[in-house]
Amino acid sequence: MPTVSVNHGDASSGTYNIHIGRELLGDFVSFIPFDLKGRSLFVLTDENTTNPYGMSVYQTLKSSGAHSVQILTLPAGEQTKSMAALEQVLSWLLDHGVGRDSVLFTVGGGVIGDLGGFAAAVILRGISFVQIPTTLLAQVDSAVGGKTGLDMAQGKNLVGAFHQPVSVVCDMDVLETLPRRELLSGYAEIVKYALIDDPAFFVWLEKNGQGVCEREPEALARAIELSCRKKAEIVEADEKEQNVRALLNLGHTFAHALEAAAAYDGRLLHGEAVAIGMVLAFRLSVCEGHCPEEDAKRVEVHLAAMGLPTAIHMIFPPLDCDAVTLMALMKRDKKVEKGQNHFVVLRGIGKAYISADVDWDIVEQVITDSMEGV
Ligand code: NAD
Ligand code: GLY
Repeated sequence: MPTVSVNHGDASSGTYNIHIGRELLGDFVSFIPFDLKGRSLFVLTDENTTNPYGMSVYQTLKSSGAHSVQILTLPAGEQTKSMAALEQVLSWLLDHGVGRDSVLFTVGGGVIGDLGGFAAAVILRGISFVQIPTTLLAQVDSAVGGKTGLDMAQGKNLVGAFHQPVSVVCDMDVLETLPRRELLSGYAEIVKYALIDDPAFFVWLEKNGQGVCEREPEALARAIELSCRKKAEIVEADEKEQNVRALLNLGHTFAHALEAAAAYDGRLLHGEAVAIGMVLAFRLSVCEGHCPEEDAKRVEVHLAAMGLPTAIHMIFPPLDCDAVTLMALMKRDKKVEKGQNHFVVLRGIGKAYISADVDWDIVEQVITDSMEGV
């Protein structure tokens, strides 16, 4: 069973492991780096993950010698990453005797992981939490690295904290019930790692991507492991996103604007927005004269072959806004420093870098072309 370590340098906990395998939900207590006996434990799930996964985790914890185990099921969807839901989770924890030695287990996708992680960061000024991600996106990205938070009316992920889990348990069996569209959304984040700095991984994905998306166990396990290793390397180098971690935002300045314009209403999943955003980042890089056209085309062809959207006009129902509105949303993104947006751009596949110096006229042209299908 592959295990990936993340050494994040937090003096209180230092290192945690990501465990990748099968049939882990009945047998993960040994992955927790301390004894659970006598503690009050909490399981946070959503309505799609509570049965059977949340309940399976709950039953496993019930026989761990814990003082008590509670489970809370929230509505599924991005709307749950809200201040109102946070208040509900904090009240639930307090009503059931949360203590400094309590542990919160998040069983769900990025929404439950981000919200639960933030609740764990702020309740009693911080308790331990364990990520048990149930989407491919969460297994390769959101459950790893300690970014937690919620959305505000002003934009996505604008409130949050860096709070690392004590363990991450990626059970590939849970992906069997994940709708294909959600699986593909996670696949976009896998491609992102390859595009940042690993051209050999991209070549591997061109050969094995279909197998990953068909959930072939070997291909899937390899893709999850390689993605977690890449993310661990970057988080270890820059936990609080002062420099290289920003590369993980490849495509995200465009993606967050597209998601906001789509009002998080389900027509555009996060990974789908990232797929379009990565294509736009490549097109911007080509138009600015930094990246060969053939690299941009190769990326677009691969994402399309996997079934991901690659242009804004593919969003259905269409976005009710123009390029100028999208650019205004991009300028509100939180990666703004000294009044300038920081874009992740590329010199080619596997050659991403940060630039604060992009030409907004070119950004507008790239967005307009993508809206018109040029
Ligand atoms: P999600 O949590 O909304 O899950 C997607 C859908 O799949 C939900 O309806 C969920 O109930 C359902 N689901 C989950 N597991 C399932 C399973 N095994 N079988 C059937 N259905 C299942 O979305 P997501 O794509 O996992 O995560 C997106 C969120 O993650 C966004 O809010 C994004 O901002 C965040 N994110 C955070 C980070 C980070 O570093 N913290 C990184 C990337 C994305
Ligand atoms: N998903 C971006 C990050 O974790 O930094």
